[in-house]
Amino acid sequence: MAGDERLLHASSFGAAAAAYAEHRPDYAQAAVRWALEPASGPRVLDLGAGTGKLTAVLVALGADVIAVEPDPAMLAELRRALPAARALSAARALSAVRALSAARALPGSAEAIPLPDASVDAVLAGHALHWFDMAIAGPEIARVLVPGGILAGLWNVFDDRLDWVAGLERVSGSAAIGPRDLLTRWRAETADAHLPGIGLIAQFGSPEQAEFPHGHRRTADSLVATLATKAGLLVMPDQERAATLGRIRAYLAARPETARGEFTLPMLTGVLRVRRLRTFDNTG
Ligand SMILES: C[S@@+](CC[C@H](N)C(=O)[O-])C[C@H]1O[C@@H](n2cnc3c(N)ncnc32)[C@H](O)[C@@H]1O
Repeated sequence: MAGDERLLHASSFGAAAAAYAEHRPDYAQAAVRWALEPASGPRVLDLGAGTGKLTAVLVALGADVIAVEPDPAMLAELRRALPAARALSAARALSAVRALSAARALPGSAEAIPLPDASVDAVLAGHALHWFDMAIAGPEIARVLVPGGILAGLWNVFDDRLDWVAGLERVSGSAAIGPRDLLTRWRAETADAHLPGIGLIAQFGSPEQAEFPHGHRRTADSLVATLATKAGLLVMPDQERAATLGRIRAYLAARPETARGEFTLPMLTGVLRVRRLRTFDNTG
């Protein structure tokens, strides 16, 4: 995806912040635990935290979390969902990363993280790593991580080994369910997500990837509402978006798995985990 298009998609979510908070899934706890396993301490930065879906799982697991999110509408939803995640000035961030309680939320981006050097043990990004400009964000993430700290990207992926899920993907099109959203393709799609780009110095070691079972209780209507919060649909012209959602609605109404009442959408949480190298040239 070209830079301008990436920025358009990356900044699309705020317009649907309330729907995002209501309809997007959280993450499998086992996946978050695995992401954090090699971290040497409890301080976690949830980067591109959105409305706090991953933040809440991290808090439940007892991590000492700081959420950073650039979109004011998403940040407002996060603070509504996690009342402990109060606004902090950058000046108070250092004492905040040292404190051991709930979550705090800061405006900021992956390219300009409002935290001091070597202040967190892990940086996690839920459905967000692919939106970062890693040429700038890579060195920034490496800066705030302690040497040997962990960077992990998490994605909820549809289990497209199931016939009806594969059919849903075909009907929806890649704007709603892209290759990165599919169990059979997410690994290849995200394997390089932590790299800064050609010719730049890598700050992270070799990636490890793993998937963990997850599910999302949905009805046909609420699944349509979930897919309507995907960036590809948020940036789509109204008519095309209505037609896409109409096709999805018709498909779900016709499938026995989804036509009536509640069902569990079969998903897995995929994790890409890398370790910050202990030494690298951060001056260029
Ligand atoms: C798909 S949402 C994921 C939100 C949340 N992490 C979750 O798991 O639900 C992507 C989020 O990344 C944020 N984002 C986009 N570009 C970003 C950047 N350069 N730095 C940090 N966050 C960014 C968006 O504002 C949005 O909240």
